[in-house]
Amino acid sequence: MARTKAARANLKAWATRANLADVAYGTSRGVSLIGDSVPILKRASAKGLKGRVQLVFTSPPFPLNRKKKYGNRNGEDFKKWLASYAVLLRDLVTPDGSIVVEMWNAWEPGKPVMSTLALESLLEFKRAAKLFLCQEFIWYNPARLPTPAQWVTVERVRVKDAFTRLWWLSPTPKPKADNRRVLTPYSSSMRDLLKKKKYNSGRRPSEHAIGRRSFFSDNGGAIPPNVLTFGEENVPESVLAGSNTSSSDDYQRFCKRFDLEMHPARMPLNLAKFFIAMCTDAGDLVLDPFAGSNTTGAAADQLKRKWMSIEADEDYANSGLGRFPRLAQHYRMPRS
Ligand SMILES: C[S@@+](CC[C@H](N)C(=O)[O-])C[C@H]1O[C@@H](n2cnc3c(N)ncnc32)[C@H](O)[C@@H]1O
Repeated sequence: MARTKAARANLKAWATRANLADVAYGTSRGVSLIGDSVPILKRASAKGLKGRVQLVFTSPPFPLNRKKKYGNRNGEDFKKWLASYAVLLRDLVTPDGSIVVEMWNAWEPGKPVMSTLALESLLEFKRAAKLFLCQEFIWYNPARLPTPAQWVTVERVRVKDAFTRLWWLSPTPKPKADNRRVLTPYSSSMRDLLKKKKYNSGRRPSEHAIGRRSFFSDNGGAIPPNVLTFGEENVPESVLAGSNTSSSDDYQRFCKRFDLEMHPARMPLNLAKFFIAMCTDAGDLVLDPFAGSNTTGAAADQLKRKWMSIEADEDYANSGLGRFPRLAQHYRMPRS
């Protein structure tokens, strides 16, 4: 980004001058745009953003059986639509950039059978832009309601569906990344081991040979697994550092105060922060083409990254301002 006009300028001013779309709001680091992301991204690409985005972090509108306000395609239609973004996004990312796509599970209508559409869509997306699958992540949300209700709570023939899948893709097998930025606090037994310098070395049942000193160095924290939960105990320190994790509360207060509809599919701020911290440096640009309540923009702003968020629904785009309390305090309801 550093050498483009887009980077030198404030992104809000740049997006306005480039006539990209209506602006919902902006900060010194980013801008929230209102509209269909395809034409906006095409214009942004033509106006200098090509090859400048370090991370696309996004949760597309997933295929659902029930129609939601923000619309949802299904079947082949969904697969083709999502794949149509693949080349567009690949061309926007830097040569060592990343594209992280969150995908919810889907179920066949009227049957206790999971749809494979989510997986097929991810495969199609990967294929369309010849991307590498760097790693698959699971976000396990223990607080999920017991759904699909008919099969889980009424007929009791399935258990609750409690995870979403995140595919970390890139045009290169080695995108910019550093897991030292997302270390989680050591467990008490590991802290004990580091203190006492005593453990059983040798061959494990898994065939792994554990050396006599392998676990003696304190690396500042544990390397997290690719199954993410965001309870208090396992949020990476860097993700929390200098952060305002109450962004979600700020958002809810703002929506209640101005009687705005809250986005029904908000992701945790720390989920966005995890990938932003791992895959980008301060000053890099993060893009979310399906921004919803702008969790991604808020996470990027708190971690001192630039950001551009695009949301088709004007009300949802405007509601995201609630995540930026300093801006939100000046908000006035438009007169009807
Ligand atoms: C799953 S939600 C994203 C939620 C978001 N991650 C959050 O935490 O609030 C997907 C969003 O994509 C938006 N959307 C759907 N099609 C779009 C398009 N063509 N361009 C921009 N936004 C779109 C929907 O309105 C919806 O708000």
